[in-house]
Amino acid sequence: MSDASETVIFAASILSADFGHLADACQRAVAAGAAWIHLDVMDGHFVPNLTMGPQVVAACRRATRAVLDVHLMVEEPERWVEPFAQAGADILTPHIEATPHIHRVLQRIRSLGKRAGIALNPGTDHRWLTPILPLLDHVLVMTVNPGFAGQAFLPEVMPKVRAVRAMLDAAGRTAVTLAVDGGINPETLPQAYRAGARVFVAASAIFRHPQGIEAGVAALRRAVPTAPPSPQPHPREDVDG
Ligand code: DX5
Ligand code: ZN
Repeated sequence: MSDASETVIFAASILSADFGHLADACQRAVAAGAAWIHLDVMDGHFVPNLTMGPQVVAACRRATRAVLDVHLMVEEPERWVEPFAQAGADILTPHIEATPHIHRVLQRIRSLGKRAGIALNPGTDHRWLTPILPLLDHVLVMTVNPGFAGQAFLPEVMPKVRAVRAMLDAAGRTAVTLAVDGGINPETLPQAYRAGARVFVAASAIFRHPQGIEAGVAALRRAVPTAPPSPQPHPREDVDG
């Protein structure tokens, strides 16, 4: 059992928030129980969508003291580590597929005093993590192909979530957090939990919940499987008369 396996964290992805009221969206999500705000940075090259730059991270930083988890879906992440760190990111999570110099990028993140994450696309083998395990603080397993909110969860990625947790634990990296991102809602969360994920990134399920942000976080929390009751000791049977 890993250290990181006990604490469940909800990371509210602002990709589906109302950007006209971003500070309010961040504050409501945090007040409702999202310990992390997840920021999806897309460059129009690594993924077919264009979203936000360091200014948006800085705006969230002014709005909340919650952990800012910056998911870098960009080519050449080495160019962007410093600007996002300066903007107030706490965790920087580049994609392993995005650069031939991922080791150097992770070293740079850590040298800036930030937590180093790594993201894996659905088609990427977990064994790519082997040489960089000592540099990781966080692993993000994509459960959709990155680029857009509102896509359907890919259950075929669950064996990889299990394999990553096992790999981290076998390497003694029990404190490394493990996230799933994409299509997370109260129906899909339990299978990701059972596979070992404890950080749940969600955009639509939180910011597009018909009853509001608070109801979205509450519904995710209710979906977390509860531990089975510990077995009760059998009542002692008298054997001697
Ligand atoms: C997808 C992003 C996700 C996305 C999740 O490329 O990395 O963080 O915002 O959106 P939902 O929760 O709607 O699938
Ligand atoms: Zn993301």
